[in-house]
Amino acid sequence: MIYQGIIHRYGHLLDLPAHSKTVSLLEGNTPLIPLPRLGKELNCELYVKFEGLNPTGSFKDRGMTAAISEAVGRGAETVICASTGNTAASAAAYAARAGLRAIVLIPEGKVAIGKLAGAVAYGAQVIQVKGSFDEALSLVVEITQKTPIALVNSINPFRIEGQKTSAFEICDDLTSAPDWLCLPVGNAGNITSYWSGFKQYEEGLPQVLGVQAAGAAPLVLGHPVAKPETIATAIRIGKPARGEQALSAAEESNGKIIAVTDEEILLAQKILAGEGIWVEPASATGLAGLIIETARRSINVKGKRVVVVCTGHGLKDPSVITESFESPEIIPATYDALIGVIA
Ligand code: F0G
Repeated sequence: MIYQGIIHRYGHLLDLPAHSKTVSLLEGNTPLIPLPRLGKELNCELYVKFEGLNPTGSFKDRGMTAAISEAVGRGAETVICASTGNTAASAAAYAARAGLRAIVLIPEGKVAIGKLAGAVAYGAQVIQVKGSFDEALSLVVEITQKTPIALVNSINPFRIEGQKTSAFEICDDLTSAPDWLCLPVGNAGNITSYWSGFKQYEEGLPQVLGVQAAGAAPLVLGHPVAKPETIATAIRIGKPARGEQALSAAEESNGKIIAVTDEEILLAQKILAGEGIWVEPASATGLAGLIIETARRSINVKGKRVVVVCTGHGLKDPSVITESFESPEIIPATYDALIGVIA
């Protein structure tokens, strides 16, 4: 049967209201890519769940198809979100598909160009807020309490429902849950979704390694961070809305939440690119965390099945790469010139 998106495939397992009207871009069904070479080095059976291959380039599309389907079914005309970029692009695309107006609030000057361009291209009204993601989220919560505008951040329970489907897909592909799941943690919606999804699917439970950026690690520090900073702008969040649930997921699963430095994130990004998988910096934190924890012998993955979730595509944030390389060499269009530079 032709693939028709996550609600069509897993809707019977999702707690979505009867009034929902499916709005889909055929999100989900992303590849679980084996990484045998790196797996050998880490002594485990390693896979990447490449969520950057969703329609707008990030995992947000799984939650957004659910949230927008519910909103449009109840007659909402406008949706709003605060975003470090990916939620904005996803909300804009699904709102466009549904014929709704989308308003997205982003922290001033801190959103990667591929995400901002997406939100603009899909026709959202983009507003920059002088402040952090956390402040933008507070504003969005306030306006949705006072007006009929629908909130599509991951505080919205239907976002969590949709994002659970990645856990279902992993279990279907591996025929059971992996032993470890490593993923980035920002506002903590995704870790909440995966844990809830694995519990519901009853195909085993992974230990969960949630990874924050060191400059934006409220769950590791145990208190909010007023001015979060990291190159991984997607997870530049100081007060995660679902922080408690993230901590529970780590604890219940006998896993943990750790922080990695920007240098470690960029190194993991490079390692993934060396396997042919280009992800944005935030998406490399799961692998960075796995490498650091195994090197420190804090976790033992020997002989285990490990899934690293790569949440967003590298094209989302090309400037991280382009700003750090010299413009490619220019040669005359002759054979001799070419041989001269490649020999
Ligand atoms: N990875 C990427 C690429 C993200 O965009 C985000 C969150 C996360 C990981 C963390 O997921 O928030 O569920 O813990 N991005 C949000 C946004 C905040 O606005 O796009 P989380």
